[in-house]
Amino acid sequence: MKIKRAVYPGTFDPITNGHLDVIERAAQIFDEIIVLIAKNPAKSPLFAEQERLQMVQEATAHLPNVTVDSFDGLLVDYVQRQNACAIIRGLRAVSDFEYEFQMALMNRKLAPSVTTVFLMPNEKYTYLNSTIVREVARYGGDVQEFVPPVVWRLLQAKFRKASFSS
Ligand code: COA
Repeated sequence: MKIKRAVYPGTFDPITNGHLDVIERAAQIFDEIIVLIAKNPAKSPLFAEQERLQMVQEATAHLPNVTVDSFDGLLVDYVQRQNACAIIRGLRAVSDFEYEFQMALMNRKLAPSVTTVFLMPNEKYTYLNSTIVREVARYGGDVQEFVPPVVWRLLQAKFRKASFSS
């Protein structure tokens, strides 16, 4: 039987409980999920690629059919090289739609056999994104309930170090 493999790409700077909710849903639908730390040319991440890999690995350790990888290149090339049939993306609100729609259609144009599947995270994560998490943590706010424990640990370490050196 053919393995149904899907790729969930993102910047994950850092991974939040909203992303994790999407990963857990996808892991129930597909045989294998690859969470892919991909490059969004419009973003300059706070966390190094290695740190983001570590965070996603630790946060998804309880999911046996989930692996983590990183890639700098065209997403559909990676997806096809992995023999994956789908790209997973989360849709939190209408505001996500236009950007996601553009990416999904472009990816389909480039690789017609790859389908983008949108999953809606639990509504309690609708307002969550990585920028808000980073900003609240930077100014000393408690974001523990929004991120996996490993992220909270690394956020504290990062901003403690920053405040000592300023
Ligand atoms: N819960 C919480 N937040 C979520 C979320 C969820 N379920 N789903 C998305 N988000 C947030 C993210 O935190 C992020 O917030 P931020 O902007 O504050 O950082 C934002 O929504 C979207 O980011 P993310 O899901 O990480 O994706 P991205 O838009 O940064 O990633 C790539 C885009 C990496 C997938 C895209 O640039 C790509 O494919 N790059 C490879 C090159 C390529 O092929 N480009 C052509 C694409 S057509």
